[in-house]
Amino acid sequence: MLIKGRGMKVWGSDGKEYLDFVGGIAVNILGHCHPKVVVAIQKQAQRLLHVSNLYHNEQQVKLARLLVANSFADKIFFCNSGAEANEAAIKLTRKYARENMPGNRFEIITAFNSFHGRTLAALTATGQERFRKGFEPLVPGFSYVEFDSLEVLARSITDKTCAVMLEPVQGEGGIRVPSNGYLKGVRDLCDEHKILLILDEVQTGMGRTGRLFAYEHYGIAPDIMTLAKGLGGGVPIGAMLATDKVASAFQPGSHASTFGGNPLTSAAAVATIETLIEDGYTLDQCRRMGEYLVKGLGGLQREYGDLVTQVRGLGLIVGMELASECTPVVTACMNRGVIINCTAGNVLRFTPPVIVQEKDIDRLLDTLDFVFGRLS
Ligand SMILES: Cc1ncc(COP(=O)(O)O)c(C=O)c1O
Repeated sequence: MLIKGRGMKVWGSDGKEYLDFVGGIAVNILGHCHPKVVVAIQKQAQRLLHVSNLYHNEQQVKLARLLVANSFADKIFFCNSGAEANEAAIKLTRKYARENMPGNRFEIITAFNSFHGRTLAALTATGQERFRKGFEPLVPGFSYVEFDSLEVLARSITDKTCAVMLEPVQGEGGIRVPSNGYLKGVRDLCDEHKILLILDEVQTGMGRTGRLFAYEHYGIAPDIMTLAKGLGGGVPIGAMLATDKVASAFQPGSHASTFGGNPLTSAAAVATIETLIEDGYTLDQCRRMGEYLVKGLGGLQREYGDLVTQVRGLGLIVGMELASECTPVVTACMNRGVIINCTAGNVLRFTPPVIVQEKDIDRLLDTLDFVFGRLS
């Protein structure tokens, strides 16, 4: 059981210290208990914990303004998790299509290996059979295409398609970074067919890739984007961002959430985003540390070519694909005081906070070196 955290470190109930390269699976973007986030929560807890969305609250408005000022979006809907943000995106897309697209367009194309959450529509959007199995009948109106293939996507758009929904880098699917030009090509296809592009930045958003939002790497903007995980720096908050044009399909009463944009969680999110933007070093640091990590892991790949098949990543969302199942490596690292995580069965996932330093990465690399040495 983990009971305490500070920066890159967490401590167990037995007093053991760990270096944390999971970061709550891409949640603790500024590290554990970042002082600015903690102070913002403490101050807000003494001022106002909750009011209904029947009224504006200071922190929610501040957060919405910050997100609008720093993204493509004009309007924001707040909720509590990534799945909920994606549900909102799916509902908004359907309503927009019904009111603005010719014919009967309701189908959303997503990618194989994607992950969009565990609620029923988000689960249906998820292009992985193993998550959907047993929950049928699923929600109608979704189809799946190979990720990173413009040719396949172009062939799959029909007169029923209203949107394409993608993660800029697939996270749960094994840290898959698309080729240069893919997302720009997807944007062009969406424009050509007058359909929407939804980007699920639940895992890649909030500085994770070295830019505030991953779409910025590709010189494009989506029509709708979803956020959660890093948004609150450790507290549960999600958001759906959209352009005015698309958001206008939602009228008061179309969609809502009791806790969405709650003053306490919004205060934490304001502190998180302000720290990321104002301490501009954090995003630079993310880019530099991401390169350092990928380089170091690449060295291990060369040394243990029989165990490691590929290293890939963007900023601080990094994966190391192994030739076999990765649980033994995760367990061995944990025993040596380093927490890492496994996704897609054989991919070690590293999602440390942007405050990670070279010395932390060196310790991770030494630990992996030791563990691989024992396994090979
Ligand atoms: C890309 C992506 N979308 C959505 C989700 C679901 O988010 P949540 O668990 O907050 O519902 C996740 C969670 O891993 C995710 O990685």
